[in-house]
Amino acid sequence: MSLVLLSALSTLNYRNLAPGTLEFPEGVTGIYGENGAGKTNLLEAAYLALTGQTDVSRLEQLVQLGEKEAYVRADLQQGGSLSIQEVGLGRGRRQMKVDGIRSRTGDLPRGSAVWIRPEDSELVFGSPSGRRTYLDSLLSRLSARYGQQLSRYERTVSQRNAALRAGENWAMHVWDEALVKLGTDIMLFRRRALSRLDELAREANTALGSRKSLVLTLSESTAPETYAADLAGRRAEELARGSTVTGPHRDDLLLTLGDFPASDFASRGEGRTVALALRRAELELLAEKFGEKPVLLVDDFTAELDPNRRQYLLDLAASVPQAIVTGTEHAPGAALTLRASAGRFTQIEPQEVQA
Ligand SMILES: Nc1ncnc2c1ncn2[C@@H]1O[C@H](COP(=O)(O)OP(=O)(O)OP(=O)(O)O)[C@@H](O)[C@H]1O
Ligand SMILES: [Mg+2]
Repeated sequence: MSLVLLSALSTLNYRNLAPGTLEFPEGVTGIYGENGAGKTNLLEAAYLALTGQTDVSRLEQLVQLGEKEAYVRADLQQGGSLSIQEVGLGRGRRQMKVDGIRSRTGDLPRGSAVWIRPEDSELVFGSPSGRRTYLDSLLSRLSARYGQQLSRYERTVSQRNAALRAGENWAMHVWDEALVKLGTDIMLFRRRALSRLDELAREANTALGSRKSLVLTLSESTAPETYAADLAGRRAEELARGSTVTGPHRDDLLLTLGDFPASDFASRGEGRTVALALRRAELELLAEKFGEKPVLLVDDFTAELDPNRRQYLLDLAASVPQAIVTGTEHAPGAALTLRASAGRFTQIEPQEVQA
């Protein structure tokens, strides 16, 4: 895949954003403005248009209050040619088009964007499911096959749960066989990817000036060698509970900072730093896989970070072909600076930025 640049982003009825088109140059675009101006909304719209993905469970939230439908469009420059990605939102549905042709998320370039934001701390302090989502979403972008196996696995888990609740003991060997096959694939893929992810996250953590070492490990509820036996061993319990408790859908990505699990012992700033290291590792892995660095979206470069770590984020943004960096202060050294206010974005001349 060749380099992807977001040359323009258009939105209509997207949260509080005024309808219109913003053009982005190569290098860093800095966006500053007061709380509630729409900075996060703009990055969220950009990420959606670039990747087709959003972490919002209710798509209606993205549609401006009082409206029924919303629309985002990314004009991408990709190896000398222009491509248009459109996402329409409405009635809880998402429709995508690439160059006018109806598409699915899987058809969009898989390594085109990384989004870094203060909420990433939830990766560290939140529940295992957030960390699994981080891992699964990254691995699905690295390998389409992983994504396929994962959705097959998840479907099998819910069908097996239904069979458990119905007390269909006689059918369990069929579900177990399917589960072991798919689940083993997932565990092996995760293990392979984790060794590189761990290396990259450690490096990033050190570069961030952390004096504590960071180690990533998988906490698995079972293992490929013992999966079938573990399922058989917990059959009675799973029948009683009506749910599958053994398998990679229960695994966790353990983040150990110094001698302790970061989830329980890290300070707020340390947690943000660990999350930053994970995002940096994500960026590097995607760059390794696709041969080009993704568009980097950085939300609130000032939040919870000391001056050194802010500088790290700004340096990271300057090191990729294109980045959009928001904050309540402006990012120094940006190629373009926009001021955000009430969902509108106006260009600020360089001399005004200095002032
Ligand atoms: N569906 C929606 N319709 C209309 N307005 C919305 C919708 N969803 C969110 N908003 C509004 O968008 C505004 C801007 O939110 P946003 O998170 O982008 O601000 P921000 O500039 O990132 O602020 P901060 O500096 O506090 O992070 C909020 O005031 C919110 O109420
Ligand atoms: Mg914000």
